[in-house]
Amino acid sequence: MPFVLLLFSILLFAAEPIKPIPQKVDYDKQKAALGKILFFDPILSKDRSVACVSCHDFNHGGADPRPVSIGVGGKKGSVNSPTVYNAIFNFTQFWNGRAKDLNEQLEGPLHSPVEMAMSKEEIVNRLNNSEFYKKLFKKIYKKDQIEYNMVKDAIVEFEKALITPNAKFDRFLRGEIELSLDERKGYVLFKRLGCITCHNGINIGGNSFQKFGSVIPLKKAPKDDRYQLTKNPADKYVYRVPTLRNITLTAPYFHDGSIKSLKKAIDVMAYHNLGFHLNPKEQELILAFLRTLTGEKPQIVKNDAQ
Ligand code: HEC
Ligand code: HEC
Repeated sequence: MPFVLLLFSILLFAAEPIKPIPQKVDYDKQKAALGKILFFDPILSKDRSVACVSCHDFNHGGADPRPVSIGVGGKKGSVNSPTVYNAIFNFTQFWNGRAKDLNEQLEGPLHSPVEMAMSKEEIVNRLNNSEFYKKLFKKIYKKDQIEYNMVKDAIVEFEKALITPNAKFDRFLRGEIELSLDERKGYVLFKRLGCITCHNGINIGGNSFQKFGSVIPLKKAPKDDRYQLTKNPADKYVYRVPTLRNITLTAPYFHDGSIKSLKKAIDVMAYHNLGFHLNPKEQELILAFLRTLTGEKPQIVKNDAQ
């Protein structure tokens, strides 16, 4: 790339409210490989019927195509399963941000009665009864007995590897390619209308708490919002802004998985969070921009048929 162009793209990039996903993150390869086996193994659920991957499908953008997930014993959860892709870049975990990081997040699904419903002791006992896992853990953690923290540690290392770099938009930010005219117009509109005030940063979301219905309130009751944690009335309908990365892959949308079409989701957002409806052309342009946010499937799960 000519020097002037490179300099220009670096300056442009520094000023943009959206940052590209790094091409690599540091993680321990051996632990991640073990974490991957655990992520796919129903041994971590009470009736051995669900694994992490049952609700975080790598062929569905790391999310669940069902509006709400089904856990052990066929029990239904209350909110839509978000993507595990790029979760490492979110400033807190869960729709209402109740876990501070991926390690703390794991306390949720493992013990939730409607997800995997296991106690720490059951997890450790089961794994210690498996020669297969004992050998694997020993190789990495150098201990004869598997401990609960090692299980979480390995899964977190795997989750770190779940990044989706090189989306068309990221390549544009790095000055490697151009967007089409519609994609560019869509991005300009996304900024001009104000979507960018909440959806920005590396995950185009994932870095602030905001109200769903900040301009025109929603009629239906919220589920598991921040109010459930804080009991502060101002936190009703407040959620961590979700990422828009790989958004075309992760339908249905919103915390309750109530909307199947992305176009409809964009319009719901415009109406409730900006105060107006978009015309069909504007919807098309924003959609064109959102389509540029699909990155590469993470290397660590790339060749899995699953
Ligand atoms: C029965 C379905 C189900 C299973 C099994 C499950 N999850 Fe989830 N996961 C969910 C749902 C639903 C949420 C959102 C819950 C909420 O926000 O209140 C979630 C949230 C998450 C998040 C937070 C993402 C974000 O953007 O905040 C991560 C990370 C995650 N799960 C990882 C895992 C891992 C690792 C396992 C296995 C140990 C697992 N999940 C098992 C359904 C499931
Ligand atoms: C005031 C902050 C704010 C603004 C402005 C905003 N959003 Fe959102 N957005 C949110 C929040 C909060 C959610 C989560 C809502 C929920 O399900 O609880 C969300 C959810 C979404 C979703 C669904 C994501 C998913 O995984 O389910 C899409 C798509 C979306 N926004 C696109 C947009 C677009 C396009 C615009 C501009 C037209 C926009 N948003 C403007 C805060 C905002």
